[in-house]
Amino acid sequence: MKCIIDTDPGADDVLALIMALNSPELEILGLTTVEGNALLEHTTANALRLLDYMGRTEIPVYAGSSTPLEGDFHHAYEVHGEEGLTVRLPDTDVRPADGNAVDFIVETALAMPGELALFAVGPLTNVARALNKEGRLKDALQRVYIMGGQGDGSGNVTPYAEFNIWDDPYAANVVFGSGVPVTLLGLNISRQTSVARDDESWMSGETPGERLAAQVLEKWFDLDEEEHRARFSLHDPVTVMAALRPDLIETRAATLRVETEGERVGEVRADYESGGSVDLAVGVESAEALAVMRGLLRG
Ligand code: BDR
Ligand code: CA
Repeated sequence: MKCIIDTDPGADDVLALIMALNSPELEILGLTTVEGNALLEHTTANALRLLDYMGRTEIPVYAGSSTPLEGDFHHAYEVHGEEGLTVRLPDTDVRPADGNAVDFIVETALAMPGELALFAVGPLTNVARALNKEGRLKDALQRVYIMGGQGDGSGNVTPYAEFNIWDDPYAANVVFGSGVPVTLLGLNISRQTSVARDDESWMSGETPGERLAAQVLEKWFDLDEEEHRARFSLHDPVTVMAALRPDLIETRAATLRVETEGERVGEVRADYESGGSVDLAVGVESAEALAVMRGLLRG
């Protein structure tokens, strides 16, 4: 499966990227970065450093949006750590590719109609700008796998909203309303695929990917000395798992609308009556999904 990963690394983004890099089924044509968890300069630097660490600098990184469709981004340094990542990866000399994320997504998809999958694991700003810019994109993309929304549960930034959708709710409405085929994995799924603070099997490893993932997890738990962080939800990794093993998730076709105003801003509302272009994940086989993700980290 040819793919682009749109990301704001980010602790769980890094785990998703390691899994994707280790997956023989995925041919990663590029990473595109978006501001979100951290400033764009940090998310882009983290993406570049990760590729260097993994020995995959042939994959280009295109920097994308530093502003949402309206207003300003809010960051999550307190969740992901200084510079947006709990682990400071070694510096790299590799620079972002010339050009920008939005054009790269559009041009790549149009060059291979029906073949390109997009993973979107940050705010949906780049994806929305690409869909707004090129009307043919929604038909050219094979599918967009998105981590976002609260599903049928509560939010993680407010009682109603999940971070990626809340950080650019207007972009989410563009993507969900565009007609592009979407598989949406929300907190209702990622909370069922989480790692406990004392789960040793995730905190060790032999391969570079496993070792880095273990460090990211350990340091993430350490960020909170009062042990409030009992579990690390594999938010972004579930998109990779779902693309490779769709048999492990249950979905329902829905039309989605995101609240853009008031205290419920960022809340995703689903209408199942008339179907729709979004396959909203409503269930996951947790144990097997966790095993798949753990295996992909190993490589
Ligand atoms: C999402 O928000 C970000 O902080 C994570 O990287 C993930 O994409 C979870 O709500
Ligand atoms: Ca993310």
